[in-house]
Order: sequence, then structure tokens, then C-alpha cells
Amino acid sequence: MCGIVGYTGKDQAAPILLDGLARLEYRGYDSAGLAVRDGDALAEVVKATGKLYHLADKTDQGRSLPGCCGIGHTRWATHGDPSLVNAHPHVSGNCSGSGSGQVESDVVGVHNGIIENFTELKEKLLRHGYAFYSDTDTEVVVKLVDYYYKKYKIGPVDAITRTMVRVRGSYALALMFKDYPGEIFAARKDSPLIIGTAEEASFLASDVPAILKYTRQVYYIDNLQVARVAPGSVKFYDLNGDEVTLPLTEITWDAAAAEKGGYEHFMLKEIHEQPQAVRDTLNSLIHESRIDLTAAGLTDDMLRSLAQIDIVACGSAWHVGMAAQYVIEDLAKLPVRVELASEFRYRNIPMPENTLVIVISQSGETADSLAALRVAKERDAKTLAVVNVVGSTIAREADHVLYTLAGPEIAVATTKAYSAQLVAMDALAVQTAYVRGAVSQEQYGHFIEELSAIPDKIKRVLEDKERLQWFSSKIANAHDIFFIGRGLDYAISLEGSLKMKEISYIHSEAYAAGELKHGTISLIERNTLVIGVLTQSELFEKTISNMVECKSRGAYLMGVTTNGNFIVEDSVNFTVYIPKTDEHFVSSLAVVPLQLLGYYTSVNRGLDVDKPRNLAKSVTVE
Ligand code: M6R
Repeated sequence: MCGIVGYTGKDQAAPILLDGLARLEYRGYDSAGLAVRDGDALAEVVKATGKLYHLADKTDQGRSLPGCCGIGHTRWATHGDPSLVNAHPHVSGNCSGSGSGQVESDVVGVHNGIIENFTELKEKLLRHGYAFYSDTDTEVVVKLVDYYYKKYKIGPVDAITRTMVRVRGSYALALMFKDYPGEIFAARKDSPLIIGTAEEASFLASDVPAILKYTRQVYYIDNLQVARVAPGSVKFYDLNGDEVTLPLTEITWDAAAAEKGGYEHFMLKEIHEQPQAVRDTLNSLIHESRIDLTAAGLTDDMLRSLAQIDIVACGSAWHVGMAAQYVIEDLAKLPVRVELASEFRYRNIPMPENTLVIVISQSGETADSLAALRVAKERDAKTLAVVNVVGSTIAREADHVLYTLAGPEIAVATTKAYSAQLVAMDALAVQTAYVRGAVSQEQYGHFIEELSAIPDKIKRVLEDKERLQWFSSKIANAHDIFFIGRGLDYAISLEGSLKMKEISYIHSEAYAAGELKHGTISLIERNTLVIGVLTQSELFEKTISNMVECKSRGAYLMGVTTNGNFIVEDSVNFTVYIPKTDEHFVSSLAVVPLQLLGYYTSVNRGLDVDKPRNLAKSVTVE
């Protein structure tokens, strides 16, 4: 989704803003823009459609835009086409054209989020003589701030809080006021925004990588708060305009973690970082051969008292929930329901007393997951967030937080965060099973040993990547791919299929293998690729039978199975073996070849692996 950056200090702002926007490219965008002020002068606005280098070219890498205070934006279109006129920043002045150049305006701003009642607000502003040049909800907000600023002759903070009371929806806003040179005003509700400070400089950004090069000291501005940002100093206000104090947090990420480090793409780098992400996450949960969830505030008593677990998430995080469902039910004998957050939030789901709602999210900012968390809290459920980004909204609002330690994930297609989430949920399953007496001390020890061995086993799967690279070159022109499996293998198939389609644009579907006969098998044609995940010993022969049924209708078969299951080769055209592990934890290994297959297929098709079309890393709108 949209990316916001801001800078005020002693250095030229434009190159810093361009650099920050480049680090937010992973969020997905279709146009970009900058507004920079040189002292008291009006802000100069420059916008460009398409990739960021167009904006960099247009501004001579920022050199043609003098000034030490500015805001920047990458736009992922919601209201209005991706076009110059709709690109941010937007200005309050009544102008024709695209709002670029030095427009006589009191307010200029950028926005991430969606203003739901923008039509009604636009009508009000039209009645008050405002004219609009774009189709965006952002232009409406900027003009509404301007309207209150002038009507009540109040300062920026009050004009912004009045606006916040009138708008419905989500926003992170960064605004500059003509009368306040060198300052940026910001506000947020349900969209990410951080503010960093250094000596004589301050920064704003939608995410940490954009400012990590300049500072590690950040404030997480809260919902419905306003920030007044000056060089080296920041003040915060609540909706009443009263000043509030926020803690300064130190970011401990390694800056190199947000760089490509010699890999061709972030996705490939992140696939290779999985052993470390999984090891770090497990190390934070396993101490002296025991699982310890107290850092997340989960006591044994609490786990013992649970009547049900509801897992809520989107996309790959939902696939983690699907896998965890099998593991928790089998080990802890506890009912588990897995729901898509976008559905859960609008359903009136009965929740028995002592239900734990677990929201899984890499970014901690996904709009539907956040809304689902709030619904769960309204219903008095206990809530646990399994989140990767420290200080994110979901992490802050949940009763308990279990952090995955995957580090910054930049590629839109998640890999290492997914794997870290899987083992975090596995550890939760094992501990829940143990404290509820569903597994013995001996089994508990065995599960912990098996979990601890996963990072090295992932490394071994990665060593086989050349075969997958070769196979992907054979399937690069496929039209349809089906991923099938039963039980946990079905959950892995869901993730394999998403990895394939989101970055290769090849249509793919995941099916519970037993469901194929109920309709989907009619889609199988000569050479349709069917990929079977075959790791569950009690089920894999049944899945092979389903694959063979496809083969007799012309399908070409690939199987992912555990070392030793050589029988698979009798039926399947191409087999990938993964190391043996306890079958509850096999998802962590079986997913890796499927990630590599998606990755290499995208590369073979010459696509933008890290930033697939139409997608955003963090989906902060509904
Ligand atoms: O940040 P989140 O984990 O909440 O994001 C959820 C999904 O948007 C995300 O997993 C998405 O499906 C990825 N593109 C999958 O690779």
C-alpha cells in the first residue's frame, strides 16, 4: 500500500526522501511524488507515474528540488486511476492541471489509507468554494484541513484534529503548512506511521527501513494522535489538542538485513534467511529444552483453561493458521477454527467462554486482521497476536504478543515470516498439548528436539535448489497448476499455490486432494501440472491415487515427499525429497521447494519478483 516519508533538518530533503521511498517500494505503488520547501518559499510539488526512477529522473535525483523540509509518497491507487493527477502530494489550493509545481496553497499533504466518507466531505467543500483537480480522497482531506484552518483561524494541530473528528476510515497523513516552514504535521488512524529523530533532523515513514540509515530512535505515533515534527524534536497531541508523551524506542534491526546482500532479489535472500529466522524465533521460545511463552504473557494456567482457539489472518498468514489447526487439534486435542479475517470481522461468530483468538500477521498492520482483532476484543475473547513487526498496531492492541524474529521482510511474497510464524505456532501447539496433559514428558522432549532441528533441515532443502531451478524452466509456460494434498499437506498446498500465482501470474489452485473429483478434475487437460504434497504417512497413498487419476487424464505430475518415500517415483514425473522430521512440523520443510519453484518460475518469465503487479506488501485498506 502507499508509502509515506518525510524529512526536516539541515540537509537537502529531496535525495533523502527519494532514498526513503526506494526502501518502501516493496509496499507496492503505481506513482510517486515529492513536495519540498526551501525556507519560507511555497512547497514545490513534483509527481511521476510508474516506477520511482521516473520521479528521480524528473528531479535530477532530487538535486533540482532545493530545500531542507519535505514529504514524499508512493501511491497504490484506491480512489482514482494511477495517474499524474491522482498521484500525491495533494495541495489545498484551487488549481488546474495535476497540482504540480509551486501551487499557491496553505496546506500540502500525503496520505495512506482510505477516507470512507470522502464523497460527503467533498460535497461540503464544493459548497464552500473549493474546486478539485483529482479523484482522490486525499485531496479532500487536505482541503478539509485547509477549510478548518482558515474558518476557525486555528493552528495546524487543531485544524488536523477537527478534520480527524469528521473523517471516517483509515489514514496516515503528513502535511506541511505554508505558515510553518521547517515543520511537518502528521496524524494517524489504523495506517502505519513512525517518526524518527536524530540530532537536528526528524523523519517520518510508513516503515522502519525507510529511515534506518539515518536514525534508530523512533516514536510509534498512536491511533488518533497528531505529531508536530521539527528538526530534532517532535511533540504529540491527542484529539483534544492536549500534548501527550510517547516513549522513544530504539530499533535493533541490523541495517544490512534490509538490503539485498548480493542476492538478485529480496525474495531469494529471504528464502535463504529462513534457517536463521526459524532459529531465532525458536530460540526466543525454547529455553533449556522447555518451551517458555511467558514473554508473550501466556501462562500454563491460561493455556490449560482454553475451551477453543480461533485463528484469524489473511493470505499466507491464514495458511499458517490452516497448518496450525491440524497440529493443535492433533497434539492438544483442542478445537480450533481458522477464519479469513475479512470474513470473520463481519460474521457474528459465537465464541465460547475461554476462547483465545490468535491473529497472525507479518506486518501487524493488515486492515482486516486488525479489524478482526478488535471484533474479538469487543466480544471479550482473549487475544494473542503473532506478529513480526515490533510496535505495529496489531501487536500494540492485542492482549498478548508473540513476536516472530524473521527481521525485516521486503519481498511482497512472504517466505521467512511465514516460516517463522509456522514454528511459533508449532511451539504454541506443543506447549498447549503438554500443559493440558495431552502429551507425555517424553513426547514433549521429542517434539522440542524435532523443532530445534528444523533450521538445519531447511538448509538441506535449500541445497537442492538447482533441480527446482531446472524444473521451473520446464513449467514457465504453464497455464494452470494444481497443488493438492490431504491434512497438513493441504495447508502446505495452499501456500505453494499462492507463492506460484502471486509472483508468476500463472493461474494455480490448491485443493484438498479428495475434493478434486467433486468438480475440479474436469479442468485437467493434457500436460496440466499437478503438484502433490505427500508427507503425511497415513494419507499420502490416497493423494497419490488422486494424482494418478489426474495423470490418466493427461496431467504431468510433481511430488514433494519425505526422504525414503521412493515409491512416489513410480507414479510421479518429478519428485522432490525433503528431510525426515516429525510429521507435525513438516510444513516448515515442504514449503521451501514450493517457494523456490514460484521464485524461479517468476524469474524465468522475466517478471518483477519482489514487486508483483497489483500487490502490496502490507494491505492496510479493506
Ligand atoms: O502482513 P500480514 O501477514 O498480515 O499479511 C497478510 C497477507 O497480505 C500476506 O501474507 C500476503 O498474502 C502475501 N503476499 C503472501 O505472500
